[in-house]
Amino acid sequence: MTAVGQPMSRADGRLKVTGAAQYTADIAVKGTAHAAIVHSTIASGRTVSIDTSGAKEAPGVLAVFTHRNLPRMNPTPQPWSHLHPHGQGYLPLQDDKVHYAGQPVALVIAETRDAAAHAGSLVKFEYAAEPPVVFSRDSAKEAVEPPQFLWPVASAVGDAERGIAEGALRIDETYTTADRHHNQMEPHATTAVWDEDGALTLYETTQHIFGARELVSIVLGMPIEKIRVICQFLGGGFGGKAYVWPHTLLAALAAGVVGRPVKLQLTRAQMYAMAGHQPATIQRIALGADKDGRLTGLRHDSISPTPVFDNYIEYAALASRSLWAASGGIATNHKVVRVNRNTPTAMRAPHEALGHFALESAMDELAYRAGIDPVMLRLRNDTESDPLSGRPFSSRAMRKCLLEGAARFGWERRRGEPRSMRDGRYLIGQGMAAAIYTHWRWPATARVTLNSDGTALVEAGTHDLGTGTYTVLQQVAADALGLSPEMVTVRLGDTRLPASHASIGSATMANAGASVMLAAKAAREKALALAGSNPNIGYSALLARSGVSTVSAEADYDPVPESDGPKAVFSFAAVFAEVRVDQELGLVRLNRVVGAYDAGRIVNPKTARSQAIGGIIWGAGQALLEQSEMDPTTARFLNRNFSGYLVPSNADIPELDVLFVGEFDAEASPLGAKGLGELTAVSVAPAIANAVYHATGKRVRDLPITVEKLL
Ligand code: MOS
Repeated sequence: MTAVGQPMSRADGRLKVTGAAQYTADIAVKGTAHAAIVHSTIASGRTVSIDTSGAKEAPGVLAVFTHRNLPRMNPTPQPWSHLHPHGQGYLPLQDDKVHYAGQPVALVIAETRDAAAHAGSLVKFEYAAEPPVVFSRDSAKEAVEPPQFLWPVASAVGDAERGIAEGALRIDETYTTADRHHNQMEPHATTAVWDEDGALTLYETTQHIFGARELVSIVLGMPIEKIRVICQFLGGGFGGKAYVWPHTLLAALAAGVVGRPVKLQLTRAQMYAMAGHQPATIQRIALGADKDGRLTGLRHDSISPTPVFDNYIEYAALASRSLWAASGGIATNHKVVRVNRNTPTAMRAPHEALGHFALESAMDELAYRAGIDPVMLRLRNDTESDPLSGRPFSSRAMRKCLLEGAARFGWERRRGEPRSMRDGRYLIGQGMAAAIYTHWRWPATARVTLNSDGTALVEAGTHDLGTGTYTVLQQVAADALGLSPEMVTVRLGDTRLPASHASIGSATMANAGASVMLAAKAAREKALALAGSNPNIGYSALLARSGVSTVSAEADYDPVPESDGPKAVFSFAAVFAEVRVDQELGLVRLNRVVGAYDAGRIVNPKTARSQAIGGIIWGAGQALLEQSEMDPTTARFLNRNFSGYLVPSNADIPELDVLFVGEFDAEASPLGAKGLGELTAVSVAPAIANAVYHATGKRVRDLPITVEKLL
């Protein structure tokens, strides 16, 4: 029996439920001192005077840093790169400027966390404040075209304007999404430890140990070999721990000065300004279509905020480049507004989850305008080649997603008219949306060692964000070696292991997974060549016969970037949602959701289903609950805790049904797998918004769909 394809439970499950798994902040290092950051109360201006005398004399204090005495750093590298990704270009405590509320203005190191926090409260500041600029429909009028970040900022295929103008049916609407924060269960934490030889170890909450190592090496101006980054368990990342944020640099520098290990753990509230967030967007979509609903033109323009010092772009219009065909043409563009806030970042699922709300809401509006069933409208606009690049898709089971998802949901029993379905006092609504998701191809290396006892060790510098990496890599190696999974141990999360890429972009299975498969195959071949004999005797006997204690092999998976391949590789989905709406209270409750996914071959249906359920819940939060409220006068995020920032709880989540309809995709990865995790968070929000429209006849174009928008 092969392990790949089996619904195996987590290899690290027991460690986690018994509390034996050590998360970053659980790791105790002898002699550790603790850090507390003091934050700016203004959002724009500068510090005029800082009085640290009271803080320095407070009990237990070892050091107080401001911009005057923190060691200097090298500037963050430009252009931005996934290989050494800074979360924020503006570095902490290097000058007297203040660019956003919550910016670090002092740092206290003390014997305990409480002592540090108390001393921090004693630092006195005088500011020269200026009125901050915040993101709004008003400031969005000042939006500018930023330099390219990940993809080209604009795209144009054909003549979209003309195509839209020639359409018998037209939609032109604006859709908006809210600022959101990752709110991982595990707060960001760093423990920085210097040894006598000037080597630095960082216990770090990160989705990218090697990227963190490289960025720290550049900014601190030290050789890469002198830095080790460790992260063996992560309590949720969601993109918020993908890049290096200022607190990591502060901890490393402070530890060097005080000559003690320094631990810096952010509080829940601090995470709103010390690490990134998903920026709000204002998106305009214009569609033209013939009377049968076939798109003749599509234009998608998005505006999002970025800090005065950085160029983060939320590529909300990205999906519109490739999801549906439009005979006349497709044009997209992104602009940014420079405001006083910290730098936004990738948040599950960056770009796509926001853009699909606009695009798939607009498609729903078009379906009603045309009098065509929303599933039929998508089938009519399906395409076998990527409209942007013209390349054929490596695989695109969109039809299966739509048809099998609809069948499972019972879509044929839906009545098309809004407000036509009821359950007692509730209006019932059923809506759907489709999705496309970027597939990343990144290089990765891994090592597999066969031991004399017949067991195997997998070593790969990738991460388990809570998603099941330990488990799926065990399965992949077991099959390549011809061993049962229990015989395979997996080690991750340490820069002393073979280098891997960031665990972002839903790319770990396809890429890090491929490197493990190749290393396991190489180890097996090496062992067989050594013995030159029948493999059926088992590795233990085989190694003994050839007189070696271990056999080890490394492999380097080095794919061409997706954009350079002969085919366009994407994952696909269709999401179906049913809501019930209490008209008098404006309350929306989810009844059920069905998600049908094409993510290529599924390595582990159990962890994949967990991913999908997590993604749907994530999308439900986006649709109905989540928003980081910013006060326009102080430019501070206001609801910086779980009582003010609402995420779904068990009571919010109904039955979730998940189908995988994809097949082995050799172009995507030697494993046949395409990206899955973030795909599942996409198009949940428009499916729900479309269901709300079906229930109520009210089109809400602004997320989240809160009570007041339905009254
Ligand atoms: Mo994901 S936002 O690329 O971790």
